[in-house]
Amino acid sequence: MNDRVLAVVLAAGESTRMKSSKSKVLHTVGNRPMISHVIAALEQTGVEHVALVVGRDAEPVIAAAASGTLNVTAFEQKERLGTGHAVLAARDEIARGYDQIIVAYGDAPLIEAGPLGEALTKVRAGFDAAVIGFETDRPTGYGRLLVEDGELVAIREEKDATPDERGVTFCNSGLMAIDGAKALSLLEKITNNNVKGEYYLTDIIEVLRAAGGKAATVEAPADTVAGCNNRAELAELEAIWQRRRRHQLMVSGVTMIAPETVFLSFDTTIAPDVTIEPNVIFGPGVTVESGAVIHAFSHIEGAHVAGGASVGPFARLRPGANLHANAKVGNFVEIKKAEIGAGAKVSHLTYIGDAVVGRNVNIGAGTVTCNYDGFNKFETVIGANSFIGSNTLLVAPVRVGEGALTASGSVITEDVPDAAAAFGRARQVNKEGLGAGIMARNKAVKEAGKVKPPR
Ligand code: UD1
Ligand code: CA
Repeated sequence: MNDRVLAVVLAAGESTRMKSSKSKVLHTVGNRPMISHVIAALEQTGVEHVALVVGRDAEPVIAAAASGTLNVTAFEQKERLGTGHAVLAARDEIARGYDQIIVAYGDAPLIEAGPLGEALTKVRAGFDAAVIGFETDRPTGYGRLLVEDGELVAIREEKDATPDERGVTFCNSGLMAIDGAKALSLLEKITNNNVKGEYYLTDIIEVLRAAGGKAATVEAPADTVAGCNNRAELAELEAIWQRRRRHQLMVSGVTMIAPETVFLSFDTTIAPDVTIEPNVIFGPGVTVESGAVIHAFSHIEGAHVAGGASVGPFARLRPGANLHANAKVGNFVEIKKAEIGAGAKVSHLTYIGDAVVGRNVNIGAGTVTCNYDGFNKFETVIGANSFIGSNTLLVAPVRVGEGALTASGSVITEDVPDAAAAFGRARQVNKEGLGAGIMARNKAVKEAGKVKPPR
């Protein structure tokens, strides 16, 4: 199909009910702005161009919409006079001549390509417009789709509906496809003669029928067209989105023991045969390869986990963490911007940042890369097969060679050659009998009821 399809996306609302310092469409679902989800669905529908109608926060809204591969032209709607008026803000783009126009709202991020494609098919088959509707037992607030003999005869807004019409449960999602050749002349015939005094896009149905045309409906599942007006609804959309994405991953071969406790981002990529234990959060930019295990209560963002690697429980991988095959990052370990070589083990209570850890290195408990001097960041490099003793502080910039060892409790401020052992701590001194003496004194202090022990 070589039809040229334009999508007009409405995102000019004030977002009053979000009570927010930013436009509603910039609020995120799956860590991505709602407007970007809408654009992604349009991308999959074969849309050629997007006309974005903006109001407040135009600049960031345009940037979020343009983050995909579609070309976006923005149009400012200077006054909020209704959805019909909003679509006409993009008049110049519509006038360039498209075969079909899709109208979508920026605050309905769960839409999928399927019903949009069906609506386009109906228009190609000769309907002047096709509206995507959904069945609901809570129709209040939505426009009702009035269907007679299989044709859509009108969309009635709640405020303008008769009691009978309010009983209709087939509702307008707001998504529609319109014949591109007729769109402008139809839109221009819409008036604001209604209870709210707005130019309703939905009036296009009666306008086109008066001109002898016909309109159709396409039904979509309610949870794919849900919109968002306040933050409670935003949380509902998030829950629906998370459920959908977890399901996709599980049927693609990912094991989740308690899926409802795993939180994903829009770009989380997890290969088959990965196991994810309960209570794991994936921020943006994570890839996990086949055979890896993510143990409970881990927080992972901007990280790559190779096959056979093991993360957590209670691990934190921050941006730039790159775990090579069979690497192990254990409990209470934080990794930031660091390569953890194949088979390397960072098992407990450790911070590794701005570092390159070689193959099969063993990092003891309590190791810290001291990477920051308050102003600058420095790198730590640890060669393959080295052994970092527990409680080593690696004061960067510093390099530990291959097959080298650092003694427990060392503060390593100078490079360690290959195969060397580095001791960076005071030598131990044993004083005969002094331990017993100190304990006897402490006991006497307690028994005498003294508050402050002598020095
Ligand atoms: C609209 C539909 C209703 C449908 C419902 C689905 C109309 C008249 N009504 O009602 O049939 O059931 O959506 O959620 O279309 N916008 C602008 N400029 C404007 C007005 C609105 O850009 O002047 C944008 C809003 O930011 C929003 C979208 O258009 O993204 C829908 O507007 P809204 O006022 O929320 O319409 P509803 O009353 O919900
Ligand atoms: Ca709305």
